[in-house]
Amino acid sequence: MLSKRRKFLKLLPYTMAGVLAYPAAKFIFFSENTDEKFWISLKNIKDGITKIKKHNLFIYKNGDKVEVFNAHCTHMGCILNFYKEKQRFICPCHHSNFTIDGHRIKGPAQRDLDKITFKIENKKLFIG
Ligand code: FES
Repeated sequence: MLSKRRKFLKLLPYTMAGVLAYPAAKFIFFSENTDEKFWISLKNIKDGITKIKKHNLFIYKNGDKVEVFNAHCTHMGCILNFYKEKQRFICPCHHSNFTIDGHRIKGPAQRDLDKITFKIENKKLFIG
């Protein structure tokens, strides 16, 4: 009869494969295209975080300062959640944390959120 430790060690590779495979598969098979160009009226964007689910983007606005982030975690691509009460993005897969303006707080992600290029013209935010 195997000890509990041996059983654990025997199952560990399968557990690790599952932990790594899920976010990779989710990124490859279920991620939406963020390359599409579109625009949003600035009057529809309040200060704070606005999630554009269709394009997997977050818009951060603080007065005149605007940033647009890819909603995919920079670790393995899971879609981040924003927690208003904590003012943080937290990855549901391996719990990387990012500030409201996209800076990495703790890993396993090793870099800040990816910024998306945009321009503002006639009170509209053009993304892409
Ligand atoms: S995908 Fe691993 S922390 Fe986000």
